[in-house]
Amino acid sequence: MSDPDTGGSVVRYYCTAGNGMERFLIGEVKEKLAAEDVCQTAGKVLFSSSAAIHRVSALKAAERLFLLLRSDAPLRLPPHSGPVCVVFMSVANAAALLRSRLLGDVSQWAGAAVTWRRLQGELATRRTEEGRRGERERGDEESSEAPTLKRERDEEEEKESERKRRCEEDDGGEEASAENMHHVKPSAGALPPEPALSFRVSCKCTGSLSRCFGSQEVSRLVGGGLSRLLGWRADLKNPQLDVNVSLSNDHFLLGFPLTRLPLANRSYMKTTGLRSTVAWAMASLAQIQPGSCVVDPMCGVGTILIEAAQEHEAACFLGLDLDDGQLQRANENVEFAELGDRMQLLKASCMRLPLSSGSVDAVVCDLPFGRKFGTKTNMAANLPLILTEMERVLRVGGTLVLLLSPQLSCLLKALLNPAVPGPAPGQEAELQREPPPPRRSLEHRETLRVSLGAIDGLIHKYVKTDI
Ligand SMILES: C[S@@+](CC[C@H](N)C(=O)[O-])C[C@H]1O[C@@H](n2cnc3c(N)ncnc32)[C@H](O)[C@@H]1O
Repeated sequence: MSDPDTGGSVVRYYCTAGNGMERFLIGEVKEKLAAEDVCQTAGKVLFSSSAAIHRVSALKAAERLFLLLRSDAPLRLPPHSGPVCVVFMSVANAAALLRSRLLGDVSQWAGAAVTWRRLQGELATRRTEEGRRGERERGDEESSEAPTLKRERDEEEEKESERKRRCEEDDGGEEASAENMHHVKPSAGALPPEPALSFRVSCKCTGSLSRCFGSQEVSRLVGGGLSRLLGWRADLKNPQLDVNVSLSNDHFLLGFPLTRLPLANRSYMKTTGLRSTVAWAMASLAQIQPGSCVVDPMCGVGTILIEAAQEHEAACFLGLDLDDGQLQRANENVEFAELGDRMQLLKASCMRLPLSSGSVDAVVCDLPFGRKFGTKTNMAANLPLILTEMERVLRVGGTLVLLLSPQLSCLLKALLNPAVPGPAPGQEAELQREPPPPRRSLEHRETLRVSLGAIDGLIHKYVKTDI
């Protein structure tokens, strides 16, 4: 798992993921980062990788990225422990046990802080490089800038890069202990030691432990310990480092977030629609190949197609929608993401697609449901026609990936899977009024439940067979 982008040092991370997204994230870290020791607990995936940090921070299925400080067996207190009455263990003993589990190995904290600083430095250097590249590409802006101003700014940036590089050299490797981190002797020409790290603790404490300790109590315990043992300075408003403590019946995790914004915030999207992580997951199921033509017949602001296009540079994309406002926002998004040469948008109805039969390699679609994307069109009544059109435009071997509400999912199964009993009473009348259901050439491959925040959705994958 060596990576030409790094010095080869393996770092252990964890990411948070929405419910149902863990399997996508596991696949992604293995494929893109050659990750090892991959494991999961509810809503979290742990892995080790030597890939460059800018590649780790470009993961698409993750919500947030953390440097893992420690993952341990969950801490379980006796069943009747409570704040007032502790049957088998006194509150003081329980606190001592918790403190030793959290802060026991101080050098581990100091070492992790060194790695965290190094990764921050690498991310900052990368941002500077990307900023410069962007400026060079927007050359006209540069050339209109006064030459002296530009030179001064370049010199500033050089100094900043040099400072970061030297800080990283001073920080050394992961093995640094608490002592050598805070008492680095300045060598000739070296920079003075960093001032004490400012930090803040965020804790989420659930399960049986939360009957004994509140999250704030645990935060205070960790915060006090780090100040005393490592000389770090608590700063609740604007800390350099956030310390994350997550304790539950399933896990015991300590880590440092590596990016200020969640990874799920996409820098290339102007207006967001469907959750970016779910859109990416749908695109990843669509078996897109170089040269593929991918269609979203209800594209909204274009999220699924844009996520797909970011991953597949040699494919082309077509988004259709009936709503002018959505199409305008989709156009702005396509322009913002600089995808205009590979993505077309068109006003059309998904019930009458302006495409010839068998002309499309993949159809991806998130049908309207829920409060955010509700529509006046009766989706249940129109589902047979919508599916017939999707099936018609797909080539044999092409893939259909749909995101539906649980209710629409029952209807879909009834329409496409003869083995499934018919629709629930009340839905029958709707189906009978509608045109004949689509031919049964759509073969079911998999169905996955994912969280969309307040509600869940179901992703269905079908492949068109030759019948
Ligand atoms: C759930 S939203 C799609 C959201 C999209 N995935 C995004 O991220 O923005 C459904 C879209 O279907 C569009 N729509 C509703 N009825 C339609 C129809 N008959 N034909 C085409 N589009 C339609 C709506 O305008 C809406 O933009």
